[in-house]
This record gives sequence, structure tokens and C-alpha cells, in this order.
Amino acid sequence: MRKKFIAGNWKMNTTAIGAELLAAAVVKGLGGDTSVTVAVCPPFPYLFRVGQALAGSPVGLGAQNCYHEKAGAFTGEVSPEMLVDAGCRYVILGHSERRHKMGEADACINKKTHAALAAGLQVILCVGETLAERDGAKTDQVLDTQITAGLEKITAELLAKMVIAYEPVWAIGTGRTATPEQAQQAHVTIRKRVAQLCGPAAAQALVIQYGGSLTPKTADGLLCQPDIDGGLIGGASLKPEEFLAIVAAAKKVP
Ligand code: 13P
Repeated sequence: MRKKFIAGNWKMNTTAIGAELLAAAVVKGLGGDTSVTVAVCPPFPYLFRVGQALAGSPVGLGAQNCYHEKAGAFTGEVSPEMLVDAGCRYVILGHSERRHKMGEADACINKKTHAALAAGLQVILCVGETLAERDGAKTDQVLDTQITAGLEKITAELLAKMVIAYEPVWAIGTGRTATPEQAQQAHVTIRKRVAQLCGPAAAQALVIQYGGSLTPKTADGLLCQPDIDGGLIGGASLKPEEFLAIVAAAKKVP
């Protein structure tokens, strides 16, 4: 039985005070409930501050990116070790905004994944097709390529420290959510490919989140799908009542 996992990706949003208040509201709303795994991923400069607001709560701290080197002359980059030092348990890698706006390729994302896992972080690896790829009936092919390259040299043991987030690019920040059927189908494709790469047991145990305009309105339909194990939430994670409502929807699923 896979435990549902709801994570908030705050992207390049909030302020120092706003981040702290948002984290405190999530902590307060969640209480001590651990029936669903919950994490928030603030921007780098607010990690420490948000970590303090989360202290003693079940809410995990995550970052939105990292570099693959431990330390050195890499101006502007942040290492996985630094993230661990800042209190992070998770790091999001391969987000479509990094793939499409910063030009990150699968090989680079795979390098980062290995470095993050070696540092002791849990990796949320994002995959997903663009609208043109979906319209061109290339969704399965794109997911296969991203999963195969993203999981290169990832053993079943390493996969146990990973989560995959299916985020169709056309659904991110657009208000156009994938239907539960579209998302479920993509999650099955991903799980099948992972089974071929890492074995069926590891694939069965893998948490696969859906991300892309997930809101309290769409949460019920998506989260009750058999292969949708949670959500990676952008816009709605900036409003504590919406984020908590999505967590509540995840809790309801038997
Ligand atoms: P939205 O929920 O704003 O569509 O963003 C999804 C996302 O990219 C989470 O990583």
C-alpha cells in the first residue's frame, strides 16, 4: 500500500515573512497527522526560515533544484550537501520549467539525481509531455524517454528513495488539469517502464504524484485513481487553505 504524498512547489514565489507564515499555516492545519506524507519546497533563500517553522511537525522540507557537484567553483549553484545541511529531506529535479526554460536535459537531470541520492536526499523526479507532444500522440514515447534517461543506473534500492511526478506541461499553471483518466493512463505507462528498468516490486512501491493545476476541486477525482499516489502542487500550494484541502482529499482515499 503506497502512502499518499502531497508536496507544495512554491516555485519563485513568497517573501521571507510570507514563506514563514505559509509554512506555519500548513503546520497548524495539518496538526500531528501523518496519514499522508506532506512537504513544502520553498525558494533557496527561505529554506532555513521555513525549516524552523516546520521544526517538530511532520511536514518535510524540500528544495526545487540542486547541482550535481558537492562544492567548488560553481557560481550560483547549490549542492545537495548544502540542502541536507539546510534541513531538506527532498529535492525536486527535472521540473518542466527547468527543462524548458533553463534547458536542462535528461542526462543532466540524471547526474543531479545520483548526486542528490548520494547526499541522502529523496528525489522528486518530474516528467511530462508538452501539448504538441500530446497532440502528436507522443505522450508514451516522451514519458518512456524521460523515465529511461532519468533513471539511468538507478537500482531498485535507489528508486526506493525516489518519487516520480507526472506533470503534463500543458496542465502546469494553465488551469487546464489532466482528466483523471488521462493522468491514470500516464501513470500506468510510467509504472510499466519503471518495472522494466528496476523490477516490478520496486515499481509497485513507487509513489507517483500528479502535478498540473491540481486544486481542491480536481483533487478528489485524481487522487482516487489507483496509480495516482499524491500531488505536486504549484499555485494552490501558496494558499494554505487550498493546499490543506488537497491534503484532506488525499486522506479520504482509502
Ligand atoms: P500548478 O499547480 O500551478 O499548475 O503547478 C504545478 C507544478 O508545476 C508543480 O510542480
